[in-house]
Amino acid sequence: MPHPVSVTHWPYPRWIAHRGAGQLAPENTLAAFKLGARHGFRMFECDVKLSADGLPFLLHDDKLERTSDGRGAAGDRTWAELSRLDAGSWHSPAFAGEPLASLDAVADFCLAQGYLLNIEIKPSPGLEAVTGTRVAQAAARLWRDAAPPPLLSSFQPASLQAARLAQPELPRALLLNESRPDWLQTALELGCVAVVCQHRLWDESRVHQARQAGLRTLAYTANDESTVQKLITLGLDGIITDRVDRFGPGT
Ligand code: G3P
Ligand code: MG
Repeated sequence: MPHPVSVTHWPYPRWIAHRGAGQLAPENTLAAFKLGARHGFRMFECDVKLSADGLPFLLHDDKLERTSDGRGAAGDRTWAELSRLDAGSWHSPAFAGEPLASLDAVADFCLAQGYLLNIEIKPSPGLEAVTGTRVAQAAARLWRDAAPPPLLSSFQPASLQAARLAQPELPRALLLNESRPDWLQTALELGCVAVVCQHRLWDESRVHQARQAGLRTLAYTANDESTVQKLITLGLDGIITDRVDRFGPGT
């Protein structure tokens, strides 16, 4: 049994590439992961939801239009249908024909290369709990005894709670895009090891509160010099960026 992730045993690097390679490649595709890796990144964030037949795959939006040639709600399509879509042409001709990525394919890629993963559980509306359950089960199966396991994060407490019930050993992080009075209590009640805040939310006081509570501190999405400097000065444990060409290991 690998050593569980905790505030004292934190195996993840500071720099995390957002959606694979930010905006330099079609987000959440294997092409993006490969590009992020070529820029030196060793950990990646991605958004994962369920197909109609329950397979976890990578997509940010509820709908298919923005990042593929599909139409309508992604969660209404089976994986057989989704896997035939072009998720690259919308970005640029160089990526034409790039498919949507299943979580299985991303796990294979990461495990083969020794890369680490932050899986953001991004449920289709109404599927918060089942998505948390299925993603956690898939992650546990795919990583089995591999260490370190993926860090599961979500804006949805119901998804994190379901993930916890399904696979309590997998590390969890609460995502926050705005300040809320119960943020610390919610993270602790969900048994989280970390909080991942929109970068503007971090200041000395919030970092102190998180650390005092035994939580690691991560921020998204830091894309400019002054933001990155602020986060480094605050000593954040993780910085998620789109600008894989500008920041990263060595910054
Ligand atoms: O997981 C951090 C970040 O990806 C959360 O926001 O909308 O880019 O998924 P979003
Ligand atoms: Mg995300």
